[in-house]
Amino acid sequence: MIKIKDNIYWVGIKDWELKKFHGDEYSTHRGSTYNSYLIKDKRTALVDTVWTPFHREFIDNLEKNIDLNSIDLIVINHTEQDHCGSLPYLMKKIPGAPIYCSKNGATLLKRHFHQDWNVNIVKTGDSVDLGDNKLVFVEMPMLHWPDSMATYVAGANTLLSNDAFGQHYASPYMYNDEVDQCELYQEAQKYYANILTPFSKLVKAKIKEITALNLPIELIAPSHGVIWRDNPMQIVEKYDQWASDYHEGKVIVIYDSMWGATKQMALAIARGVERKGLGVKALSMGKYDKSDLITEIFKSRGVIVGSSTVYKGILGDTAAVLEMINWLKFKNKIGAAFGSYGWSGESVKIIETRLKEAGIEIAMEGIRAQYNPSPEEIKACEAFGEAFAEKV
Ligand code: FEO
Repeated sequence: MIKIKDNIYWVGIKDWELKKFHGDEYSTHRGSTYNSYLIKDKRTALVDTVWTPFHREFIDNLEKNIDLNSIDLIVINHTEQDHCGSLPYLMKKIPGAPIYCSKNGATLLKRHFHQDWNVNIVKTGDSVDLGDNKLVFVEMPMLHWPDSMATYVAGANTLLSNDAFGQHYASPYMYNDEVDQCELYQEAQKYYANILTPFSKLVKAKIKEITALNLPIELIAPSHGVIWRDNPMQIVEKYDQWASDYHEGKVIVIYDSMWGATKQMALAIARGVERKGLGVKALSMGKYDKSDLITEIFKSRGVIVGSSTVYKGILGDTAAVLEMINWLKFKNKIGAAFGSYGWSGESVKIIETRLKEAGIEIAMEGIRAQYNPSPEEIKACEAFGEAFAEKV
């Protein structure tokens, strides 16, 4: 148990070895943490648990520090497995313990575990007195699941924000002011880009709602990564920026190439963009980590996508990245397509259609080259990059 403030203790797990999250979808180069918090007051509350594979370590650690029967209530802010996967094991030890969660949380707990626990539904503004502290609940539907909520510990002025403001970031340190700021912000932004982008409108509305409450907030303690202690509102301000159709004015050229022709086109297009003075990266969709690629797209205003045509279609990594772009529904970005082909050459049209479906405006007609681009076609690709940069 690590005391983080007054009566609040961190009782989570640091997962140093985690390399992929959400199955194999999200890369976690720096591991992650599953933060669970214990509030020891006249009554004792546990807020969230940890991912299923760590249930034994989690419960052993709790038992070393407290009598489990002294837990008066459990708050489940969110029912995704990384936060409530250990709940069934804990409930075997303290089967009568009341659980507090949102209405959707109650439904999802039932769907996940099919148990008849003592579940108490709470809504925004409901509270539970612990003694010196009071838990106040704030529903946060679709940030990022329908069940999500945050718990504010009034008395300790601490917001237990669950996934919001988190980072997949295991560190020997507990607080934002103790870690490398570049690492911290890289992970916080990657988390936002890959998980929260589709809900940006709701993020903005929720920030407005919480700010209007004028609550004193000394700590923001999310369910992943480090706790925001030094100027905790800095991450709220960042979320407000990131939720505002964010980009950094640059261009990303992403490509997938069978024999290098589409890659030559990509590099020529990037040269054209660069000539116009814009920042540009040309990255292979097959070789570059896809979750990191999403962060690069998040930061870009222009997204140029290229694939060779294969059997009247696009290459597999291009299809995967376009699918991810479609989930996330980025706003305020423009796009274009390119690609080499052998005989039929459908890739450009397919990419344009998929980008449009994802809400990315096609800024100009795509460019194709049969087999290897000729020197003239390379020049045309450079001009294409320059023209796209103008649109950006
Ligand atoms: Fe960290 Fe949505 O779970």
